Amino acid sequence: NAMLSWQRTEFHFQPEKNWMNDPNGPIFYKGWYHLFYQYNPDSALWGNITWGHAVSRDLIHWLHLPLAMVPDRWYDINGVWTGSATILPNGTILMLYTGSTNDSVQVQNLAYPADPSDPLLLHWVKDPSNPVLVPPPGIGLKDFRDPTTAWLSPEDDWRITIGSKVNTTGISLVYRTKDFRSYELLPGVLHAVPGTGMWECIDFYPVSTTEENGLDTSVNGPGVKHVLKASLDDDKNDYYALGTYDQQSNTWTPDNPEEDVGIGLRYDYGKFYASKTFYDQNKQRRILWGWIGETDSEIADTNKGWSSLQNIPREVVFDNKTGSNILQWPVEEVESLRISSQEFSKVKVDAGSIVPLDIDETTQLDITAEFEIEKEALEGTNGTDVGYNCINSGGAAGRGALGPFGLLVFAHHSLSEKTPVYFYLAKGTDGNVKTFFCSDESSSSEANDVGKVVYGSTVPVLDGEKLSMRLLVDHSIVESFAQGGRTVITSRVYPTKAIYGLARLFLFNNATGASITASLKIWKMNSASIKPYSDQ
Ligand code: FRU
Repeated sequence: NAMLSWQRTEFHFQPEKNWMNDPNGPIFYKGWYHLFYQYNPDSALWGNITWGHAVSRDLIHWLHLPLAMVPDRWYDINGVWTGSATILPNGTILMLYTGSTNDSVQVQNLAYPADPSDPLLLHWVKDPSNPVLVPPPGIGLKDFRDPTTAWLSPEDDWRITIGSKVNTTGISLVYRTKDFRSYELLPGVLHAVPGTGMWECIDFYPVSTTEENGLDTSVNGPGVKHVLKASLDDDKNDYYALGTYDQQSNTWTPDNPEEDVGIGLRYDYGKFYASKTFYDQNKQRRILWGWIGETDSEIADTNKGWSSLQNIPREVVFDNKTGSNILQWPVEEVESLRISSQEFSKVKVDAGSIVPLDIDETTQLDITAEFEIEKEALEGTNGTDVGYNCINSGGAAGRGALGPFGLLVFAHHSLSEKTPVYFYLAKGTDGNVKTFFCSDESSSSEANDVGKVVYGSTVPVLDGEKLSMRLLVDHSIVESFAQGGRTVITSRVYPTKAIYGLARLFLFNNATGASITASLKIWKMNSASIKPYSDQ
């Protein structure tokens, strides 16, 4: 449907057509980044799940490859579901994935490249001993899925964790294995959080508290914290927490029990789910992929013939300034798409006004922006908007003394359609400032069958820091990063009028009592021109 083709993105990863969900088994191998993903070859809705496959030299320009695995065995005939890759010290690649059996039982299976000398890893062998793991006693037959990348233990065996639940408590089971064919369930659980429900797509990895680089999945010891992430089936968000992994006792303990997995921090406060990291040994960094679904209707998806994107891969590091969160930042390679830039220096935006930014392209952008709020106003207003939160405090139209202010992307000149991404400052009676970072979809589209949520959360701002945001804008998505990636929000939006040359970009300031000054650099982004295999 050509009418809807503008919704396709130009530099985000998406299949040529049909349905996609979780990223699977990302790896760097023989010069290529591989992305596998949950894919329905037959329609734009979920079903018949196979592993789609694409490769890239730089995580941005992709080549679509033939399907890597299809449901063709009794142990995965109802779907080749989510899985992860492990690269053994000798270079061997092993994939563990969940199969939905002929009885729709969730089991774990082993697969590996048919020809390890093929850098494209086109063909995959399913191990004759599959399934290698079945749900253990006490675990529901449909509550046992999405094995992680394995890590090497000091006892020289491999460990993996798999998500499940007991009643409404989300749990992570840990298995040990030597050969990836036979496994032993370790007593207890790595971690459990009551009330969080089924944990899908667990991710578990070390981050360095002292160094900038990422860590291979098996690293532990001084200067290391472990991130535990679960995708909550009940609310379809990815929650993480930082903590300490004790291999001896097979437990992970959160740094802050009040911000435990599923009740504390999220990777992304917008549309983002079932994510997975991998260690990129090519550039010594850890990279995060996540599934960004549609928020329009299934009818619209069927009409346009495709569903879902993956985010621009993000590098993940520990935030050693706050000590209490990770930072996510688009991989540096995305900057190779920047074609031309325009700068705006110290643009003043008075309370209650908007300022158009005169740029020639507005639907494929990389924007960095810094904001300063009038000092007198900031100092003079104790006890304002104490109970504020992004989600139900009136969105970008709600006005407070110190916010909202930010950018209007995908904005029609009439402002009938716009997606505001903004800061909002609330100040306690004690004078402490709490900064919020939000994305408001409520007037993003005149269509009425699309999601129009106000997303967001708080973002830590340390003494002396300016407020900063970075936005990646790509036709029907905006990925927004505040304060270097402490808080991230992804919005899918479906403007009907603010498209191609009709979309504008504005600064806005809806605060009642403070002017702001903004400095921006805005790059026009090239298309990544993702190619089918036959074009090679
Ligand atoms: C997460 C998920 C996984 C499962 C896969 C099936 O989105 O439900 O738990 O393995 O998708 O496609």
